[in-house]
Amino acid sequence: MTEGETAGIHAVAMPDYLIAWLHLTAAATLVGGLIFSRCVLTQAFRRARLDPNVQHVRRLSGRRFRTIVWISLVTLTLTGASQLLDESGSARIETAWGAVLMLKLFLFGIAFALLLVHDFILDPHGPASETPPSFPSRADRLETVILLITLATLLVAAYLGTV
Ligand code: HEM
Repeated sequence: MTEGETAGIHAVAMPDYLIAWLHLTAAATLVGGLIFSRCVLTQAFRRARLDPNVQHVRRLSGRRFRTIVWISLVTLTLTGASQLLDESGSARIETAWGAVLMLKLFLFGIAFALLLVHDFILDPHGPASETPPSFPSRADRLETVILLITLATLLVAAYLGTV
């Protein structure tokens, strides 16, 4: 590749700080959104569970948040992979840093799979969820597990920055 072509690629590639910013914003949106959903929205909806208007708002907000969750997951995967590519070939992968990153990706993989089940198999906010939900539903319990796993992923990510 000529010097000019390499310079061309660097000119269009997103600066590292922007990729890190997108990664952190997606992480904050996912974890913060799950905390708000579990600790605020669900508790409020539980108190008014027999009010059909409230259940309608619950379905609308649930579907909207599902979109935000998947945008965050795709952004985390793409920006994470980009940061990982920056490290490819570096000795760092073979060190404790690499092992901690593998743990982080393992936890992320579990959260990703559970969100697939929650959003597209249980689908608590889909058209089928007309009847007032029983609390806690299977989806509720799964949301709590997903929240705990993403919090664990964030903890490992914070530790990763110190390794
Ligand atoms: C719930 C999912 C995720 C969360 C909460 C998360 C969170 C974070 C945080 C907070 C940092 C900054 C750490 C620091 O510099 O102190 C970070 C860095 C990083 N993340 Fe993620 N991340 C997630 C998913 C991913 C995924 C899926 C990948 C790979 C495909 C990834 C790869 C990376 C890499 C390579 C870094 C840079 C680490 C370094 O330079 O030391 N992350 N992540």
